[in-house]
Amino acid sequence: MGKQRVLSGVQPTGNYHLGNYLGAIRNWVEGQSEYENYLFVADLHAITVPHDPTQLAADTYTLAALYLACGLDLNHSTIFVQSHVSAHSELTWLLNCITPLNWLQDMIQFKEKAVKQGENVSAGLLDYPVLMAADILLYQADKVPVGEDQKQHLELTRDIAARLNHQFGKPDHQPVLKLPDPLIRKEGARVMSLADGTRKMSKSDPSELSRISLLDSPEQIQYKIKRCKTDPIRGLTFDDPARPECNNLLTLYTLLSGKRKEDVAVECQDMGWGQFKPLLTDTIIESLKPIQEKYQVITADKSYLESVLRDGGEKARAIANQTLSQVKAALGYSLPL
Ligand code: TYM
Repeated sequence: MGKQRVLSGVQPTGNYHLGNYLGAIRNWVEGQSEYENYLFVADLHAITVPHDPTQLAADTYTLAALYLACGLDLNHSTIFVQSHVSAHSELTWLLNCITPLNWLQDMIQFKEKAVKQGENVSAGLLDYPVLMAADILLYQADKVPVGEDQKQHLELTRDIAARLNHQFGKPDHQPVLKLPDPLIRKEGARVMSLADGTRKMSKSDPSELSRISLLDSPEQIQYKIKRCKTDPIRGLTFDDPARPECNNLLTLYTLLSGKRKEDVAVECQDMGWGQFKPLLTDTIIESLKPIQEKYQVITADKSYLESVLRDGGEKARAIANQTLSQVKAALGYSLPL
């Protein structure tokens, strides 16, 4: 039997942070030799809120370079840009027509983002989860490694696939679309803001101090950790609901140091913030250093990155177009004459 297929992506909206890394990208890298991986830059998603074209182009390259810098290996992983594979848009339309509107209106992220946009909510923002379903289903993915905030979108993806299979599949045949499983790790699936341990770390938070970006300098990291929210209690503990910041910072330290949670609990139980913060700062700086060094090398040669994305697009198109044809045939479309 061949390897199972993994599909995942990040939106190129800048400010890639420790949540994106620990919730998603690092897990792709760690599991990559076990799977056949399709990892893409979700640039069609990035225009569901107002955007600047020059910035989108720059952010797309930065993100693709970061995928490589974080350790994606082209022997195991195909890296591509979503808009280079037109099947994503086409399948979205077909899925739109079988997705009940109220399923989309119930999406938590839509409600949250719509509030932020005020009057300016696009139809694309509502439709975003259908595009995400198309991304996943086109590759007949077995597993989708994401952070906790994407769980509802994955449930919707499964519901859409099941509905299409039910309405248009043939009883004795293979289902038209495979139902994917989310791959959400327990630790790191929800990295919280440095300014408020009850809110998730986010690219769109207006405060730079709320997140550590993967390309932050050591000085920026030091400054942000110095300023981050803590509490007045001495002795650091995990999992105390009254101390969300403490749990978040200890979790960051655990995940980035590679130590076991039990060991960190003992190491930090008598520490004050004055002792812990420099330790966390050094750990973050050290773990981002190799990524940042590799990023510099990759971005120094734009033609290399372009060739990676060109090859990735070609491989992705071959698979995506095959699934698209199967869906179109199931829905009753004939091949072009
Ligand atoms: P995006 O760009 O918001 O985030 C990319 C990945 O990072 C995870 N993530 C986090 N994990 C832990 N803690 C956090 N604070 C945190 N913030 C973000 C996200 O869960 C995600 O895994 N819709 C997706 C992109 C997408 C996609 C897909 C993903 C489009 N199509 C198909 C998987 C499959 C998004 O906006 O992710």
